[in-house]
Amino acid sequence: MPLVLAPLAGVSDFPFRALCAEQGACLTYIEMLAAQPIIRGDRRTRDMMAVKREKGALGVQLTGCDEGEIAAAVARLDAYDYDTIDINMGCPVRKVVANGCGSALLRDVTGVYRIVCAARRATQKPLSLKIRLGWDRSELNYVQVGIAAQEAGADWITVHGRTRTENYSKRVDLAAIAALKAALCIPVIGNGDLFSSADFTHMQAQTRVDALMISRGALGNPWIFRTGAANLSLDMWLRGIEAHLHRQQQEYGNTLRAVVCMRKHLLWYLKGWPQAREWKQKVTTLDRIGLAFDLVREYAGRLQTAGVSWRRGGAHGYDFSGRA
Ligand SMILES: Cc1cc2nc3c(=O)[nH]c(=O)nc-3n(C[C@H](O)[C@H](O)[C@H](O)COP(=O)(O)O)c2cc1C
Repeated sequence: MPLVLAPLAGVSDFPFRALCAEQGACLTYIEMLAAQPIIRGDRRTRDMMAVKREKGALGVQLTGCDEGEIAAAVARLDAYDYDTIDINMGCPVRKVVANGCGSALLRDVTGVYRIVCAARRATQKPLSLKIRLGWDRSELNYVQVGIAAQEAGADWITVHGRTRTENYSKRVDLAAIAALKAALCIPVIGNGDLFSSADFTHMQAQTRVDALMISRGALGNPWIFRTGAANLSLDMWLRGIEAHLHRQQQEYGNTLRAVVCMRKHLLWYLKGWPQAREWKQKVTTLDRIGLAFDLVREYAGRLQTAGVSWRRGGAHGYDFSGRA
């Protein structure tokens, strides 16, 4: 089953994407871009648009509020060497929906049709949408949205099986994802609560989707694309983090930014290992990437001395299983 790394704002920069692609993600996305700064030629956005990849296909995801704006931004992105362009219709963030973007777009099915028609005219590249099931349980219009997008020329749809108002405490709705898949001819990618190969098999069996998009399951665990979050040896863990740190250094140099961006990844990497609290504390004050190498090596050394050599993969996150 093809596994895709989700566009993850603040996370899916080149070092992280490259690690996930190395482990088997067939498609990765740069961090989400807003349409207006793309159209204005904003410098920071231009920097983020740089097409950097090693393996696998690379996509870009766009957020915008109306057809003119989205089409103009798609036309700009079309000139770049991305393999595919996605329009975000799922972002639940208050600031985004207050402007009528993200999941607010789902409330107007005709508007969805017009947006996809306009974007379709602006690019020959594969074009997709990432949606939620609707605004809330009283507005479950994902099938209508999917059909509108299909008729307007979208090449596939990724569906996160929750509504805009549902948070992560509610389990992803597999029956709804299955209903969307059954209603459409274009491929559907399933997203939500994919933390292990058991989750992959379960979603695939229940929904018959064509591919799976992984989000939180990849945080601190790029190995999920290869192993499906099976047991992870301490050695593989350490080598993986060192590779991430090297890539971070190459991308950002020995800057404060390099280590600040890395702190959240290190906290995720430490999840599920024993006696990590003290080390997590140290991570929050790291101010040099060189010190991050020292920290993870020292921690791994302590675990090895204590006889801990692997972490057991859990169905939802990790349970630490102790000694080998
Ligand atoms: C840190 C973080 C950043 C995210 N950024 C984006 C984004 O830029 N675009 C998007 O469509 N979804 C974004 N999402 C949502 C995820 O792609 C995904 O739809 C959601 O987390 C459900 O999948 P999961 O249960 O496997 O995490 C983000 C999620 C997280 C945790």
